[in-house]
Amino acid sequence: MDYKAPRGTHDIFGTNALGLSLLEQKAKEIFRRHGFEEVRTPIFEDAALFTRSIGQTTDIVEKEMYVFEDRKGRKLALRPEGTASLARAFIEHRMDISSPAGKFFYCGEMFRYERPQAGRYRQFRQIGAELYGSSSPAADAEIITLAKDVLTSLGIDKINVHINSLGCDKCRPLFRKVLVKYFSSAKDLCQDCLRRLGKNPLRLLDCKVDSCKFTAVPETSDYLCSECKDNFNIVQFLLKKADCQYSVNGTLVRGLDYYNRTVFEIRSDAIGSQDAIAAGGRYDNLVKELGGQSTPAVGFALGAERVLLAAQSVGFLDSLKQSEKIFVAIAEQELFGEAFAFSAKMVKDGFNNDKNISVFGPINGKSLTSQLKFADKIQISKTIVFAKTEFENGKVLIKNMKDKTQTETEINKL
Ligand code: HAM
Repeated sequence: MDYKAPRGTHDIFGTNALGLSLLEQKAKEIFRRHGFEEVRTPIFEDAALFTRSIGQTTDIVEKEMYVFEDRKGRKLALRPEGTASLARAFIEHRMDISSPAGKFFYCGEMFRYERPQAGRYRQFRQIGAELYGSSSPAADAEIITLAKDVLTSLGIDKINVHINSLGCDKCRPLFRKVLVKYFSSAKDLCQDCLRRLGKNPLRLLDCKVDSCKFTAVPETSDYLCSECKDNFNIVQFLLKKADCQYSVNGTLVRGLDYYNRTVFEIRSDAIGSQDAIAAGGRYDNLVKELGGQSTPAVGFALGAERVLLAAQSVGFLDSLKQSEKIFVAIAEQELFGEAFAFSAKMVKDGFNNDKNISVFGPINGKSLTSQLKFADKIQISKTIVFAKTEFENGKVLIKNMKDKTQTETEINKL
């Protein structure tokens, strides 16, 4: 075949597809209990929305966005993340004015032109939640515990919650100055870091090339103003109250520019170098920056593929039971209609009261032998055979396709 899934994308099927559905289902249940409502935004948006929200000098905007022009020359981008789209929708539907408080969640595909490797894809799924209208540290703690709850609901327990505070417009300029001074004396900076040093020195802290070279890097927590310090202390107090273990990581800055104050990343020990399975933080200026009424906000997103990799390591995917496959076959063509009606009833009512089944057949115009061959090929576990003599006595044959044993059962007992 001449075609393959594009580099960095993948087809999801079998247990992984089941796992993904279950992850979404569990996340949705937990979100609803916390009062979050679902929002679906378009997969592409005005490219400028992302440039403005995520930041001109971030990796995502500089080199990872899928940008294209439509037939009218509009510059659009496949969404690289969900926060900017949600903020755009929040403002567009005037929720910043009518109900400047809201809890929303989303699930969907995101696109980033990154170098693919295990856990890093060009098309991936995020499940995220955004809480608008509260500047209370309780909202930060709720978002962090919410992210953790979704992960633990899948049995993922070996996780490390890293938190930091990036300060506010008052204290961050001082930290930037300290960083510029620190990095100006660093040798051997990559081209990106050299370029970003003057404009956005925080970016150097999470440069994929350089960040491992730096030692004794200044930490944000040493430069917070008293309000930000108090705020960060309350977030930590609440996390302790909620039994959520965490560690303060003073160099955690995140790869998007809209954050202020609390940021966090949840990492898993079980999945290799791309270990951030969920991340987020506070972004109090974004709604205003995009033209809305000033509205504080905090949120997170998890990477579904990475979460499933972590879930696999704790056996979560092994425990997912595929439904039992049952085939309805006919020994004589004249029983096709009866078998068809039975098959339809079984889809509705289940087999022996078990509704975790998938029903195949009947197929007309084929010998019983070729029907059974087909059933073997599609890994059927039981075949119900409609045969004339048994049917006239109100019975069918049930063939166990694994050990090839066969029993007779009354139809109305199934
Ligand atoms: P992010 O850290 O860029 O944050 O992405 C969140 C999560 O998406 C990551 O922790 C990771 O699990 C997953 N992820 C990111 N890139 C890839 C990739 N190339 N392949 C597979 N998984 C990936 C955001 O996107 C923010 N919008 C999160 C947020 C929501 N902040 C506030 N609200």
